[in-house]
Amino acid sequence: LKAGIAIVGATGAVGRELLTVLVDRGHGPGDLRLFASERSVGRKLEFAGRSCDVQMLAGKCFTGLDWVFFSAGAAVSRQWAMQAVAAGALVIDNSSAFRLEPEVPLVVPEVNGRTVAEHHRLIANPNCVAALLALAIWPLHRLSPLVRLVVSTYQSVSGAGRRAMLELEQQSANHLAGRPIKPQALPHPIAFNLFSHTSEVDQTGYNAEERKVIAETQKVLAVPELAISITCIRVPVLRAHSLSVTATFDRPISEDQARDAIRQAPGLRLVDDRSANHFPMPSECSGRDEVLVGRIRRDLGQPDGRGLQLFVCGDQLRKGAALNAVQIAELVGVRRPAAV
Ligand SMILES: NC(=O)c1ccc[n+]([C@@H]2O[C@H](COP(=O)([O-])OP(=O)(O)OC[C@H]3O[C@@H](n4cnc5c(N)ncnc54)[C@H](OP(=O)(O)O)[C@@H]3O)[C@@H](O)[C@H]2O)c1
Repeated sequence: LKAGIAIVGATGAVGRELLTVLVDRGHGPGDLRLFASERSVGRKLEFAGRSCDVQMLAGKCFTGLDWVFFSAGAAVSRQWAMQAVAAGALVIDNSSAFRLEPEVPLVVPEVNGRTVAEHHRLIANPNCVAALLALAIWPLHRLSPLVRLVVSTYQSVSGAGRRAMLELEQQSANHLAGRPIKPQALPHPIAFNLFSHTSEVDQTGYNAEERKVIAETQKVLAVPELAISITCIRVPVLRAHSLSVTATFDRPISEDQARDAIRQAPGLRLVDDRSANHFPMPSECSGRDEVLVGRIRRDLGQPDGRGLQLFVCGDQLRKGAALNAVQIAELVGVRRPAAV
């Protein structure tokens, strides 16, 4: 598709993945504009064999575009997204700026793709953990309504951006060479370590990441009262998040029913081989589109049979961000409304 496309935050982890996903899915090269901060002006990025200049955001920079992807943080989205909307583009926002606004669809296409019909040229992409969780649990929720989720995450450094990815590589090399480690992109040492997600903790004891996952999963699944408890942990994995999920359903779901539903669900791949002890791993989904689901088993801690446990791994730069954003744009298509 030869659409006019812009990426705001093109030099970042999500922005670079957007370039890859657009090429993979045959969306280039049309008119392409790449934006980042002042720091990146003068840099060039590769797109489908051509070299594109990175520019700074400026008045009228969105004129004539079809799709504008924002992945430069909530403050940049709040400042610029409405200008892209006013210029007639469809905005897909990867930041948290608009996700909980009632009039903004928050979309995982396989789960609630129909809600894009309600868009006003602005659609939000969920938090990466919320996207993976909603995608993995949706086929089971359709078998029997969810009552409660208890989740622990093992989140890769790519979730904290490109600088954090470089930091893990550098710290690991320094640690092995016996050199001192000085955390910069992340607040604690990440090589050979793990720590609680470092977003701000409120009076409930939950951090901002955990609060986002709760509210956004409820919105994507359209179950506002769903009880969710979650602990988010950063681990020394380069890309792909993992989630341990304990789910309670209204009625019992057997392990086989759950496996069949996962097998048939778009976007998921069942990896559940007990004899080989082979279950989802970040290394087997990094750089890939499918989200892996396995270790499906009856929750022995819920003797009434209404509980299941599962383990989920997904490359959140893809399904939790870039791939999901491009899938949303594809759902809407290129039907450019008149600029206002
Ligand atoms: N990483 C994930 O897995 C993930 C998943 C879902 C959603 N998100 C969201 O996506 C966004 C980007 O995340 P990321 O991980 O890609 O971060 P990142 O690697 O740190 O990249 C941030 C990008 O934003 C640009 N930027 C920063 N300030 C800017 C400004 N004032 N004007 C224009 N561009 C500016 C940066 O440009 P410079 O290179 O010039 O600094 C860079 O291109 C965040 O809102 C994040 O919450 C991330």
